[in-house]
Amino acid sequence: MKLLGIVGSPRQKNTHYMVRKVLESTGRPYDLIELRNEKFSYCDACGGCYETFSCTKEDDMQRIYDELLQSDSIVLGSPTYFNDVTALMKSFIDRCLPFYFSGGLKGKKTGLVTVGNFKHNERDSTGNCKLCKEETESVLKCLDNLRGFSSLLGLDIIGEVYAIHSEPSVKDKELISLGKKLI
Ligand SMILES: Cc1cc2nc3c(=O)[nH]c(=O)nc-3n(C[C@H](O)[C@H](O)[C@H](O)COP(=O)(O)O)c2cc1C
Repeated sequence: MKLLGIVGSPRQKNTHYMVRKVLESTGRPYDLIELRNEKFSYCDACGGCYETFSCTKEDDMQRIYDELLQSDSIVLGSPTYFNDVTALMKSFIDRCLPFYFSGGLKGKKTGLVTVGNFKHNERDSTGNCKLCKEETESVLKCLDNLRGFSSLLGLDIIGEVYAIHSEPSVKDKELISLGKKLI
């Protein structure tokens, strides 16, 4: 069984922690791709993949396509940026268009993770942290986008975990449980 993690953060921090936690909890070997270290451009809608099911761009995505095809379970992780995935993750998503046409990733197990962290200095009239609510809504929107992408590719979504406050370890239990379900 081949396990693959994709980290869409421009830094090695919370998302990296979460994706690795999921993968490590499987007790199996895994590959981790940090998109920040890969050289690939965005989809320019050349239309090449509509019929050939392959991408004409000769960049690091070609290797990533192979890794995705060879994996049985994939963990997709992105920080929440303005209620959405990062630009890095979005470029990766758009470059997966060949799989939308080929159905090449259909049925692979997938886990989704995100993390958000607005500043917590605003209280509502009852004294509760206003931004905790906004943050949760924000990360849920990001998860919604990851879910939409996964569904369009026919991936089998096994579970989702979000963290807020830059304290992803509070979600260790959920992350470990997701890892167990992916194998
Ligand atoms: C450009 C930008 C936009 C952000 N937008 C949101 C947001 O909409 N909601 C949120 O909860 N956090 C937002 N954040 C905070 C990040 O999600 C948070 O710092 C997260 O921990 C980053 O993940 P990382 O530690 O894996 O890089 C934003 C951060 C940046 C840099």
